[in-house]
Amino acid sequence: MKRHRLGVVGAGQLGQMMHQAAVSHGIRIHFLAEHDGDPAVQVCPSYEFGSPQSAAELGRFAAGCDVVTFEHEVVDLESVAVLERAGVVFRPSSTVMSSVADKIAMRRAVEEAGLSVPPWRIAADLGQLDAALGAWPHAVLKLSRGGYDGRGVFMVHSLSEGHAVGEQLLTGTTVLLVEPLLAFTLEAAVVVARRPNGDCVVYDPVRTMQIDGQCRQVVVPSGMPPGLDEQARVIAVQAAEALDVVGLLAVELFLVDGGLVVNELAVRPHNTAHHTIEACTTSQFDNHVRAVLDLPLGATGLTCVAAAMVNVIVDADGRDPADHLDAALALDPGAHVHLYGKTARPNRKVGHVTVCDDDADRAAARAWRVVAALHGDVPIELEIERQIERQVKRQEGIG
Ligand SMILES: Nc1ncnc2c1ncn2[C@@H]1O[C@H](COP(=O)(O)OP(=O)(O)O)[C@@H](O)[C@H]1O
Ligand SMILES: [Mg+2]
Repeated sequence: MKRHRLGVVGAGQLGQMMHQAAVSHGIRIHFLAEHDGDPAVQVCPSYEFGSPQSAAELGRFAAGCDVVTFEHEVVDLESVAVLERAGVVFRPSSTVMSSVADKIAMRRAVEEAGLSVPPWRIAADLGQLDAALGAWPHAVLKLSRGGYDGRGVFMVHSLSEGHAVGEQLLTGTTVLLVEPLLAFTLEAAVVVARRPNGDCVVYDPVRTMQIDGQCRQVVVPSGMPPGLDEQARVIAVQAAEALDVVGLLAVELFLVDGGLVVNELAVRPHNTAHHTIEACTTSQFDNHVRAVLDLPLGATGLTCVAAAMVNVIVDADGRDPADHLDAALALDPGAHVHLYGKTARPNRKVGHVTVCDDDADRAAARAWRVVAALHGDVPIELEIERQIERQVKRQEGIG
């Protein structure tokens, strides 16, 4: 039997969940990790340390793999291109990766695919920034490279505020993507998995909610009219085909004035599709592994009426949600609690909770309750139960 040896650049939680999916097919993953204790190396015996920014280390890593894929975008793409010419198979390719490596290239790629994006301008200096802010005093300034989870996204509400933020940001070779602050109706996301021969499958679009630019909650069905759900699917497939993506493509969308515009693309498993592990026939991680290894893709349909996923993000006090796992599991035996094994640091994403239910709002409410329990907050009815138990024990002690 042919054994697949899949290399994954990066060893974070996305790699950890890819590993979980690969294990069930007898597929071995070999990780390129950067730090001892990375989530994937805690669970997978096959890894090596190295920097995806070093040509030599990337080359040594790739040599032992049939196919190499990525779980993040911070990779030296010139080295990837050199290795590709030497016969190493990267999926997605360096060409695809370079189309999403920075937000400006991404905007251009989406426009070239014939899809709508929000209005945008490039600001490489303060003059260009002021001109953009003149057009849109309520604006969003985005670092073109290196930002994620809202780090690198700055909302400003006047020309002077935007100028001041720009003065801080525009140093060295930094370039900003500037766009108007949009009063969108909602944010949605849709994920497609695509094989080298172009076969693809699409997941149901989800509705996402960000707080301070960071994804907090995902709900499916999206609640959009069926026509818009279908439009979101078509956009995702069109983008995947235009870019010739192999693996997963996640498309983040804004619903503005009744129409969908593409905010961002990612060519890897995406936070907005973690619910697919329990709520869909085949998870995004499973389909990513299948797509990059050119294996038949799995069905994407929901196996429940509705589902919600809420991220577990460490509070400002740095308390570790893992300390409250017991309480969280006790609270809702039907919930799916995922903790990635990451060290708790304020504002760090360390896990997520998914709940499947017959109703999307109820699924979300249940998921938030479990997340609250992970933060050490005890729901009132449980607290009452505990007090009664304690009282009973005390009385038994007396009796
Ligand atoms: N033009 C905009 N108008 C209003 N909100 C925006 C705009 N652009 C981004 N945002 C908000 O900021 C979040 C993060 O921005 P995004 O471009 O997706 O960067 P990141 O790479 O950090 O995910 C979005 O999900 C959205 O909630
Ligand atoms: Mg985003």
